[in-house]
Amino acid sequence: MKRVYLDNAATTQIDPQVIEFMVAAMNQYHGNPSSIHAEGRVARAAIEQARKKVANYLGASIGEIIFTSCGTESNNMALKCSVRDLGVRRIISSPTEHHCVLHSLDSISNVGQAEVKYLPVDDKGRIDMAQLEQWLREDDTKTLVSLMHANNEIGTMIDLAEVSRLCQQYNALFHTDTVQTMSFFPINLSEIKVNFLTGSAHKFHGPKGIGFLYMNKENIVKPFIDGGAQERNMRAGTENLHGIIGLAKAMEVAVENMEQNRAHITAVRNYFKARLENEFEDIQFNGDPDYGNYKVLSVSFPASPKGDLLLFNLDINGVSVSGGSACSSGADAGSHVIAALHGNSDRKTIRFSFSHFNTMEEIDFVIDQLKKILPELVKNAASIV
Ligand SMILES: Cc1ncc(COP(=O)(O)O)c(C=O)c1O
Repeated sequence: MKRVYLDNAATTQIDPQVIEFMVAAMNQYHGNPSSIHAEGRVARAAIEQARKKVANYLGASIGEIIFTSCGTESNNMALKCSVRDLGVRRIISSPTEHHCVLHSLDSISNVGQAEVKYLPVDDKGRIDMAQLEQWLREDDTKTLVSLMHANNEIGTMIDLAEVSRLCQQYNALFHTDTVQTMSFFPINLSEIKVNFLTGSAHKFHGPKGIGFLYMNKENIVKPFIDGGAQERNMRAGTENLHGIIGLAKAMEVAVENMEQNRAHITAVRNYFKARLENEFEDIQFNGDPDYGNYKVLSVSFPASPKGDLLLFNLDINGVSVSGGSACSSGADAGSHVIAALHGNSDRKTIRFSFSHFNTMEEIDFVIDQLKKILPELVKNAASIV
């Protein structure tokens, strides 16, 4: 049966070039990178080469990149260690962050380690920059600002340069979750100052279970995971050697093809959006139409009898998508992001998210399935038998 995968914000398929590279590395390297013998040394060299590649793409120094198990671990480390080790006593964030940030913030504030404040967001998911400036200006408590580059559910983006400028002006640290934009947007840390930034390979056609934390050399923290001296003493545990090699290769492939992939994904997304608008009644889109992630289209369907089962029906008809984010879609508990934008609504939100592997023909297939599942929403439904 035909299947169309439009859930690329949840995870992506591994690029065939990355698979080939990783298989070669698996055949070539088996040493423990901490061993001093020949097998260990070549494994160590492969990791350091991967680190150099990632650092170069980001305009960072090699020592500022720490490989971790995922974006979640990287965000936990940045938030919890900056409170523990850097004297941060206030964190300013937003209610639309990923759960790995929000739940880390809960655990920080629950034990009273730091005050956590959430900026208001408007109905497009844009954070209130004037409020951010006011809070930074009014209170000189040691502060970390934690704002994601692009929202994983609706795609709304912050202006990294602008938030960075404000943080520098008021002497605050800046952490940004770039899991959804890493390797899809140029990020140059030699031009924009960020204190902590996170990435995860499986979002850019690399393997799962490998991510990294960029930590500016001015704000080095102590390890989040204790044990051996791996990752230059920053993260204990034998390195995920083949994952690290795959992450760097995936970044290389994605960065080299960034512009052409962006053009293709944007065209596919725009075609889908236009067909939805032309052929269905009362379709709305969540997120900022002017400044959003081109990979994501969050669609709000009017309440209808089939609405509750839309995800399920799309799945059994061959279309893979998410309700909110992947983590919440399993439970389908409703999205904290959509709730922050619109409060309670009986409309149904589906996140469609695209990759350069998607085609226009796949979009036609998805539209056909939607017409079958939601006939009452099709414009001129009478003429469709
Ligand atoms: C914005 C954002 N941050 C963090 C994560 C967590 O990344 P990982 O799956 O690597 O733990 C995700 C993944 O869904 C995400 O979309």
